[in-house]
Amino acid sequence: MSYAAYNFIHVLGVIFLFMALGGTIIHVINGGTKEDNAWRKPLSIIHGIAMLIILVGGFGLMARIGIDHAAFPGWIWGKLLIWVLLGAAIAVPYRVREWAKPLALIVPLLGAIATWLAIYQPF
Ligand code: HEM
Repeated sequence: MSYAAYNFIHVLGVIFLFMALGGTIIHVINGGTKEDNAWRKPLSIIHGIAMLIILVGGFGLMARIGIDHAAFPGWIWGKLLIWVLLGAAIAVPYRVREWAKPLALIVPLLGAIATWLAIYQPF
């Protein structure tokens, strides 16, 4: 697959990931729980598939821009860390309700940092 195709898949995953996280966070901010979220299952499936295609797209992009899978640059490690954090972030609002509002800022900021890392590749 081409660089453009991997890039498209990567960004498609990012868009769905943030929809699922935002939907979950706002549900909890509005007083909702895990049990009364009528769309919990679809949201968690969308979140899981989005995580997967972000990773597939990301590794495809790495191959296309010539990054050796045995020696990741620092910015890739940064993105992998953010990917892990955003993976965990779907469960956090239900478990620690008082974090739901901070997460409404932290989650998009993590997305912004991941984007910044990809664009500037500072280290
Ligand atoms: C959820 C976390 C992530 C977000 C929000 C994110 C976001 C982005 C965005 C917005 C771009 C720029 C696309 C463009 O306009 O060209 C990008 C590119 C890229 N991302 Fe990610 N990404 C994430 C995770 C990852 C992971 C885990 C990897 C590695 C496995 C990765 C590897 C890359 C690579 C290699 C590029 C291309 C850089 C280039 O074109 O030089 N990303 N990412």
